[in-house]
Amino acid sequence: MRQIKIKALIVTIFTLGAIILMSGTTSFSNDPFTANCGEVSTETSETLTKPLLTAKLTKNSLKLSWTKVENADEYKIYRSKKSNGKYKKIAEVTADTLSFSDKDYKGKRKTYFYKIKAVSMSGERTEHIYSNILKKTVYKRKSKVHGVTYIDGILIANKTYKLPKTYNPGTNRKAYKAFQKMKSDAYKDGISLFIASGFRSYSYQKNLYNNYKARDGKEKADTYSARAGHSEHQTGLAFDINDPSSSFENTKEAKWLAKNCTKYGFIIRYEKSKEKITGYKYEPWHIRYLGKDLAKKLKKTGKCLEEFLGITSKYKQR
Ligand code: DAL
Ligand code: ZN
Repeated sequence: MRQIKIKALIVTIFTLGAIILMSGTTSFSNDPFTANCGEVSTETSETLTKPLLTAKLTKNSLKLSWTKVENADEYKIYRSKKSNGKYKKIAEVTADTLSFSDKDYKGKRKTYFYKIKAVSMSGERTEHIYSNILKKTVYKRKSKVHGVTYIDGILIANKTYKLPKTYNPGTNRKAYKAFQKMKSDAYKDGISLFIASGFRSYSYQKNLYNNYKARDGKEKADTYSARAGHSEHQTGLAFDINDPSSSFENTKEAKWLAKNCTKYGFIIRYEKSKEKITGYKYEPWHIRYLGKDLAKKLKKTGKCLEEFLGITSKYKQR
């Protein structure tokens, strides 16, 4: 009997303690993990400096890395599907660990939010501090949205991957804006750029290709013109600049374009040294919009888009 009374008393004290602690953390109501284990819930800690969290997508996981926090005894890693949603603890690591690979990132296109908590238990009280919240969108390696193929989130149209007849997005607004900016900066350098051919519908491309085929034969036409559904022009993300002919190659405009287009998010899509991989002859005038980060990254690697994504560009039928 006496034992039960003592037990009840302990439970009451514990519950009251927990309520007091939780009421002190209302500013963290979005985060269910701030009010646990009797920790002092302060975003700013006198003992700890805020860790900086970054992430890199590797082949099999999303690798999170963070800066070392002096005096931290451990780190806890949290993940959520919404920035202000419920953060679930996915791992706990010791102070000498400064990275963690989340292997559970795969699936359809998903956006995850991550944060790290550095915890110090050496003082009189336990203290902790959170890192920045890191947003990361991860993609299924290959996905099809309304018949359009995306590899690692990048829309792809080449000899292997066909667009549906009905895919008719018009000129991509972001790509066009990027072109306008590039055009005006080029002008300041005495370079005049214009779009000779931009968005082309499925039926327009069909007609174009058939004309080339009638003129040069199928085999030759396939080296420089895409069959209907296979042209990047149908994506609205590709533009032919100034003069889509062999005389463009040695112009100052072509040189300016090759040197500068990645700064605006474009790549020269069909490079001279990549003809066998892209499936097309060198086209110094054909640019494809990828966004600044990706375009710069791709240029640095020296790879063409097919190599970069590890895909082919080959027709199923000859
Ligand atoms: N000239 C490029 C390959 C196209 O027709 O889309
Ligand atoms: Zn083109």
